Amino acid sequence: MSDGATDRATSMRTGLCGHLGPADVDRRVALCGWVARRREHGEHLAFLDLRDHSGIVQCVVDGRLEVRSEDVVRVEGVVRRRPEGTLNPRLATGEVEIHDCTLEVLAAAETPPVPIEERVEADEALRFRYRYLDLRRTKMQANLRLRATVNAALRRAMERNGFCEIETPLLWSPTPEGAREFAVPSRLHHGSFYVLPQSPQLAKQLLMVAGFDRYYQIARCMRDEDTRADRTLEFTQLDLEASFVGQDDVLAVVSEAVADASEAVTGSRPGDITRISWADALDRFGTDKPDMRFAMELVDLSASFEDTSLRAFSAPCVKALVLAGGGSLGRGRIDALVDRARALGSPGLAWFKVVSGPDGLAFESPLAAHLAEDERAGVLAGTEAREGDLVLAVAADHDLACKVLGSLRVHLGAPAVGEGEHRYVWVVDFPMFEGLDDAGNPAAAHHPFTMPHPEDLEHLESDPLSVRSQSYDLVLNGWELGSGSVRIHRADIQRRVFDALGLSPEDAQARFGFLLDAFRYGAPPHAGFAIGLDRLVAIFAGEESIREVIAFPKTQSGADLMTGAPKALSEAALSELGLVRAPAKK
Ligand code: AMO
Repeated sequence: MSDGATDRATSMRTGLCGHLGPADVDRRVALCGWVARRREHGEHLAFLDLRDHSGIVQCVVDGRLEVRSEDVVRVEGVVRRRPEGTLNPRLATGEVEIHDCTLEVLAAAETPPVPIEERVEADEALRFRYRYLDLRRTKMQANLRLRATVNAALRRAMERNGFCEIETPLLWSPTPEGAREFAVPSRLHHGSFYVLPQSPQLAKQLLMVAGFDRYYQIARCMRDEDTRADRTLEFTQLDLEASFVGQDDVLAVVSEAVADASEAVTGSRPGDITRISWADALDRFGTDKPDMRFAMELVDLSASFEDTSLRAFSAPCVKALVLAGGGSLGRGRIDALVDRARALGSPGLAWFKVVSGPDGLAFESPLAAHLAEDERAGVLAGTEAREGDLVLAVAADHDLACKVLGSLRVHLGAPAVGEGEHRYVWVVDFPMFEGLDDAGNPAAAHHPFTMPHPEDLEHLESDPLSVRSQSYDLVLNGWELGSGSVRIHRADIQRRVFDALGLSPEDAQARFGFLLDAFRYGAPPHAGFAIGLDRLVAIFAGEESIREVIAFPKTQSGADLMTGAPKALSEAALSELGLVRAPAKK
């Protein structure tokens, strides 16, 4: 591990452990760090592996010294070439060691409750409880330094493109991202609460009204939602907004920024990022987060089953995918796929093993005998399946069939996170609304300030669910990396969208009045985007969970095991905030 700096001389040390090599032989050095390992060598000698953030170097010390693993020490000595036969090719500094050492213990350490060694994977709860020890591990050091590299590359891209970094409040008011919000009681205004922002969405739009033209921020966002591998209560976005731009301008700037980040991490730039419409993404990949590292596209077999007499295939839509070589799957694995499809809401999952028959390719399947000849031919032609493949098909309504197969596609075909290349894709033309909410009103797919697609504006009242919006997502290896949209800057369109959402003028004024007021004083056309930084870094680091790239993460249940937060407040603190404790639930 190297941080790229050649030296870190200070008043206490001449440089870093991990940077020493044959060129330093005979140099007198002073090094500071932690004792990674101690090995006795005869009666009077001990080998200490001295570790700082740059790596490890071996020091030969007096075996009578009182020094233990994880003690913080300062060692002065002379760099020598290791004797023949004792070189360690696994260590960057493995050709040298430090001799004639004097050693000072700067701070003694108790035995660490979690292993610092890389090879041992400790229990997650222990790792989080002693995160400062967990972070000493090479992998965690690398993850957080990678994060800093990504941040720096993104910042440079923003600065180069004329974006101005502006911090926005954390003690704020409700924002429109749609998750549950964290509230902070006010000491000075009993009974009133600040809300922690789910994103700087409204603040950045106000900065456009204020004439800043291009804003960005590496922003902390808080959402009180269920956590998952890619979702936590408190996360970070690269947030940006620009005036007098359209969708293409935003996509260009964000594409450049993520390409810079990719290059900073991997040394090479991804190619041009393709675009796919939301409708195509669903149709071809069964999801709005298509993983483009592998093909296995869904095919539509509806035409082949238009006049089918098979009840299982009498549905508005029949979609299929091919698992190359899947013909070798045993019955148990196939049954598990059927169960998985059912759990996703599918009425069933038809499967056909492609085998060679007397007249060419044939199917091995419980349905094989019931398929008409033209249906069998239709499946083979539509899927281009070959001998030894497995065809999986779902007959249902279009969106359900796509979603079920999209999920199976990832389950069966996706490389592990971080494996393979980084394949970005833009998903554009999202629907404006996703289904109906409990009150029967269309629910905003992105947020209520998203501009409808100009071609669909006229259907806003008559057929809202058919209206597309000018919103777009960036997807990387099957993860939603970021979202953005062209915003509504005209009061008349905003009013119509609020109406469609069932938001009365009074409700809108109560929730977002300050933004609507601002728009009365000249709002430029504007658009923006936010990249989930935790996700970007996790994918770069090849981690399955964003917690592995967050310095002090919370657990699945939102607890901070290190500090003990969230904690009860004393009666005095509660009373100062004007709060009383509710009686415990029976
Ligand atoms: P959105 O809500 O889609 O858009 O969020 C943008 C990106 O932020 C990341 N993200 C999260 N990461 C970790 N944990 C979470 N709980 C979490 N929630 C979201 C994702 C996501 O793609 N204001 C709009 C952006 C805009 O329109 O400019 C917004 O926040 O990577």
